[in-house]
Amino acid sequence: MATATRKKSLLITGATGSLGGELVARYYSEYRVFAHGRNADKLLRLKMRYPRIELVLGDLRAPGIRDAVRQANLVIHTAAQKYVNLAERHCFYTVDTNVNCTFELADLAARHGVEQFVFISTDKSSFPTNVYGITKYLAERLILELVEVYPQTKFVICRFGNIFGSNGSVVQLWLDATRRQQPIQVTDPEMTRFMFSLEEAVEAVHFAVTHGRSGDIIIPKMKSVSLRDLMQLFHNSRIEVIGRRPGEKVHETLYVQGEISTGYETEKYYVLNPHDTTRLHLRDLNSAECERVSVKTLRHWLEQLQRRAA
Ligand SMILES: NC(=O)c1ccc[n+]([C@@H]2O[C@H](COP(=O)([O-])OP(=O)(O)OC[C@H]3O[C@@H](n4cnc5c(N)ncnc54)[C@H](OP(=O)(O)O)[C@@H]3O)[C@@H](O)[C@H]2O)c1
Repeated sequence: MATATRKKSLLITGATGSLGGELVARYYSEYRVFAHGRNADKLLRLKMRYPRIELVLGDLRAPGIRDAVRQANLVIHTAAQKYVNLAERHCFYTVDTNVNCTFELADLAARHGVEQFVFISTDKSSFPTNVYGITKYLAERLILELVEVYPQTKFVICRFGNIFGSNGSVVQLWLDATRRQQPIQVTDPEMTRFMFSLEEAVEAVHFAVTHGRSGDIIIPKMKSVSLRDLMQLFHNSRIEVIGRRPGEKVHETLYVQGEISTGYETEKYYVLNPHDTTRLHLRDLNSAECERVSVKTLRHWLEQLQRRAA
């Protein structure tokens, strides 16, 4: 007689966020999903869309999250204090959330025999100039240290640039300003940022889940966008140039020489791993020097975003 196979369990921290919510959708049918968030209203709305998810309400040290970790085969840790300007002013809170809580969660996961822990990092961790980037850099380093301590758990880091239209992104701020008929605030039109769509971000996380080896840092081969290009999507708005804010770079890097230089590459990803024996011969990956996302693609992403919000 055929026995029904039990689904594996997946804990997604930050499931109420832009990326976390999309990961819930991606893995809903494949896994028993534990969806974590601090905001009860957002969690309940997620449950309306995905009735079989199990809700984990609270901060990253809440008892519920420990319980979910104990039952999980896979943890995808997206929760973070990701706002650069807030991080500059709330250093303690940002360090505690992004560094301490990440370490505690990853350590707990390994102690409870979680098979795989995927950590979502950012390009701002590469040669960081702000508190947010430094916290993500430190979290990456702590995760890599756990690779040595817990060989039975696969720790994989996914490091990427901006997700078009994610919560709090420049596109969301400009859409808000437009709705209020206020001018859009531009820090510096010449600024460039690595950027891809939410779907591409989910695909990168899925690559980490399916192909990641312990100690891998997976970096998608991203194109970039200048604020000047993005402004073309808002050509009817008044523009106010406000200048760069503390900690912000003019251009970002996804990788700089001096970081881990061994690993492999595929058509879409660089995969760094300190334990690999193959040299990658990677040069700096700088958002000013790479291929640009076309304005046509930006328009397409904006339409997708507006459809999703409707
Ligand atoms: N968005 C991007 O462009 C981008 C680019 C590179 C990397 N990343 C990384 O990708 C991840 C997800 O980004 P996102 O854009 O989806 O972020 P988001 O929309 O701001 O969502 C963040 C999630 O983390 C939760 N959270 C924040 N602080 C927390 C805390 N102290 N304790 C527990 N939960 C907390 C939030 O809960 P509430 O809903 O309760 O606030 C929310 O569920 C982050 O790690 C971010 O650093 C994002």
